[in-house]
Amino acid sequence: MKKRILSGMRPTGALHLGNYYGALENWVKLQDEYDCYFFVANWHALTTGYEDIADMKNNIYDVVIDWLSAGLDPEKSVIFVQSDVKEHAELHLAFSMITPLSWLYRCPTYKDQLSQLKERNIATYGFLGYPCLQAADILMYKSEFVPVGEDQLPHVELTREIARRFNYLFGEVFPEPQGLLTKVKVLPGLDGRKMSKSYGNTIALSDSPEMILQKVKQMITDPARIKKTDPGHPEVCSVYAFHKIFNPEGVAEVEENCRAGKIGCVQCKKMLANKMVGYLEPIYTKRKELENKRSYIQEVLHDGARKARQVAAKTMEEVKQSMGISYE
Ligand code: TRP
Ligand code: SF4
Repeated sequence: MKKRILSGMRPTGALHLGNYYGALENWVKLQDEYDCYFFVANWHALTTGYEDIADMKNNIYDVVIDWLSAGLDPEKSVIFVQSDVKEHAELHLAFSMITPLSWLYRCPTYKDQLSQLKERNIATYGFLGYPCLQAADILMYKSEFVPVGEDQLPHVELTREIARRFNYLFGEVFPEPQGLLTKVKVLPGLDGRKMSKSYGNTIALSDSPEMILQKVKQMITDPARIKKTDPGHPEVCSVYAFHKIFNPEGVAEVEENCRAGKIGCVQCKKMLANKMVGYLEPIYTKRKELENKRSYIQEVLHDGARKARQVAAKTMEEVKQSMGISYE
């Protein structure tokens, strides 16, 4: 029996390479070894974004199209949208009965976001309960592992605490899941800062080969290099960081030539762009193909929701029995 894993992403628009290397690439690999559930966390998106829903629908398609283009396979993994499986909302309600407020108030993401997203009104019941909903997502499928980035570990820990509390109060229903930390390949943005949509320094999976060439040209290199013969410091250069990922067989030579002042940045960037296009073009092509197939995407999601619901309904049956809600 394969072990089960579950993970989700909020639909915040087309994914960039940071998202790809931070999560999606890993999900694609996990598919063969695990029984995988991947879902679009659209209820979660509302917790911080309920005032700005104009793009939500398109964002759901964008994220699923990115997943499928990058290699998530509906034959191998259950791929669905959170709100399609009503049991998530139901289990969230059940957990809200037993989750102490203090656990939620002390969650680091709650404090951080509240101070960072000052322009939004997220001092809401729903936002405070974010980790409680995430616990419902995870425990619904009795997942053993949750592949996430480091920032999400507090939520996995809280999930374990909620599972323990539930089991203590009502009997053993939930296993305690573990976070599966992705060995993240760190990819800086075009300007050397962390790649992030809010910095406008990303390369997206939906960028065309021409766009990639354009963006690589703009990348910030070692400022100490003015002439080609100036010795370079690849460790401060984004282009070099990208070579490590897209050109593993050639990166040592790049480093040597850069330090020795034997290669110009223009040429170095050209080499990189070619490697990147070689790797990303198949994803881009698949993406273009899927963009016009909304009904196929819908089919995939409906089918995924149907499979997810079979597991979810069983869990909810157990939950209701053990909590004294059921009168059957
Ligand atoms: N909170 C996660 C994020 O922002 C998304 C998410 C929602 C999730 N439910 C989940 C991740 C369950 C893993 C498991 O990235
Ligand atoms: Fe960066 Fe390449 Fe220029 Fe060196 S030669 S500074 S690695 S772009």
